[in-house]
Amino acid sequence: MKDDTLVEFKDPNENNLAEELTKTDLIIIGKDLVKNYEIGDFIVKAVDGVSLNVKFGEFIVIKGPSGAGKTSLLNLLGGLDSPNSGIIYNQGVKISDMDQESLTLFRLMNSGFIFQNYNLISTLTAEENVMFPMNLSGMKLEEQRNRAVKLLKEMRLGDRREHLPFQLSAGEQQRVAIARALSNDPPVILADEPTANLDKKSSQFIRDLFNELKNGEKTIIVVTHDDDLIALADKVILFDQGNIIEQERDLN
Ligand SMILES: Nc1ncnc2c1ncn2[C@@H]1O[C@H](COP(=O)(O)OP(=O)(O)O)[C@@H](O)[C@H]1O
Ligand SMILES: [Mg+2]
Repeated sequence: MKDDTLVEFKDPNENNLAEELTKTDLIIIGKDLVKNYEIGDFIVKAVDGVSLNVKFGEFIVIKGPSGAGKTSLLNLLGGLDSPNSGIIYNQGVKISDMDQESLTLFRLMNSGFIFQNYNLISTLTAEENVMFPMNLSGMKLEEQRNRAVKLLKEMRLGDRREHLPFQLSAGEQQRVAIARALSNDPPVILADEPTANLDKKSSQFIRDLFNELKNGEKTIIVVTHDDDLIALADKVILFDQGNIIEQERDLN
């Protein structure tokens, strides 16, 4: 991994970032972020010059209409994608210009992603899906399995370990996905409309989990329209047309 850390950051002309980097309560610093998608001659400005800081332990909700660029922004903050321009520091590491390989390694240990459609690997069992990130991080097989079993039990899926994704309900699949997101114990959890496809009872379970995570050490960024999930947030960001329109609440 490229060792481009806080300590090495010395360019004060880089949009006054130097000052922000001295604020030790910030876990993520995003500055002037731009994400464009080029389709033929057409350019979609999904994220159009966004600056956003996230504090350690903060629970942030991003909401806004479909197509606003919420998913694109979330992916940048967690290192699932790189910006066309702008700077992202995540835990003191500059991830905005990392190559794909370094970014994958960074993400593996630091960002737990939860998706609207779960994104489980269809040919792996629930347990194997949870083991997968631990496997990639080089954990011993026995330790992987023990931790997967523990996490699945916490998700009340102890009796579903050998099930393949298609043998699980939507709510169960999302709980497997959450166990997978937590497997390497990442400090940041990023969730993209995690309850959008779930029934009331499953959504409530997921919300309770987020509430527990919030009371732990995790920093949480959730894209959602779920009012009960929004109620947990320290800060609600309204996003539209690639930009932050409004911060609706900041309890800090
Ligand atoms: N991989 C992609 N290739 C091309 N266009 C994309 C891609 N991902 C998203 N977009 C476009 O970028 C815009 C923002 O998308 P997205 O970030 O998914 O918004 P949201 O999550 O708020 O619905 C949309 O117009 C979408 O069509
Ligand atoms: Mg989206």
